[in-house]
Amino acid sequence: MLLIVFLFALIFSSSSHAADFCVAKLKGAGSPAGYSCRMPSRVTVDDFVFTGLGVAGNTTNIINAAVTPAFVQQFPGVNGLGLSIARLDLAPAGVIPMHTHPGGSELLYVVEGKITAGFISSSANVVYVKTLGKGDVMVFPRGLLHFQVNAGENNAVGVVSFSDPDPGLQITDFAFFANDLSSELLEKTTFLDDAQVKKLKKVLGGTG
Ligand SMILES: *[C@@H]1O[C@H](CO)[C@@H](O)[C@H](O)[C@H]1NC(C)=O
Repeated sequence: MLLIVFLFALIFSSSSHAADFCVAKLKGAGSPAGYSCRMPSRVTVDDFVFTGLGVAGNTTNIINAAVTPAFVQQFPGVNGLGLSIARLDLAPAGVIPMHTHPGGSELLYVVEGKITAGFISSSANVVYVKTLGKGDVMVFPRGLLHFQVNAGENNAVGVVSFSDPDPGLQITDFAFFANDLSSELLEKTTFLDDAQVKKLKKVLGGTG
């Protein structure tokens, strides 16, 4: 008797079940709720596989670091699943500058090397910072300012996963200095001096 009830429950629940997945139709516009779904008949296994995180990113740049994302734009199979992943490469002296992900929390797993990582709480501006070694994991709560710095003499590699298919990335220095917000307003609203603002605008390609 119990078994029959169980089977009925199973049949009933599976017939009223929502779709299993919603592989992103990237041609449409994304929204905070994600992308619209591709027709299941046009989905293949490759939509659920991302190849490329085995290759180091190019760290020849101003931050000596690279992030290789497998977010929804690169990996349409994660649409609607509430997660995504990326590879982090930090050459010696590499820095992922102070930044936030407005859309999701982050989990960092150190695969190789030493990484000093930290975040700042929004409620009391408390700093939580730690030097991590191979095999260590740290979480960074959604939306909080955080950073990662290579703390060793060799390359460091990390895998970062996010609680959103499209966590977003805003690098604070780029937000301040890589656009045309006038130096006057920037100085007034940050209390930084003119020389520092002009220097960083020049380095990061900002104007005004
Ligand atoms: C890495 O990036 C630098 C700067 O953009 C470029 O000059 C170099 O060719 C790139 N290296 C590789 C292996 O792609």
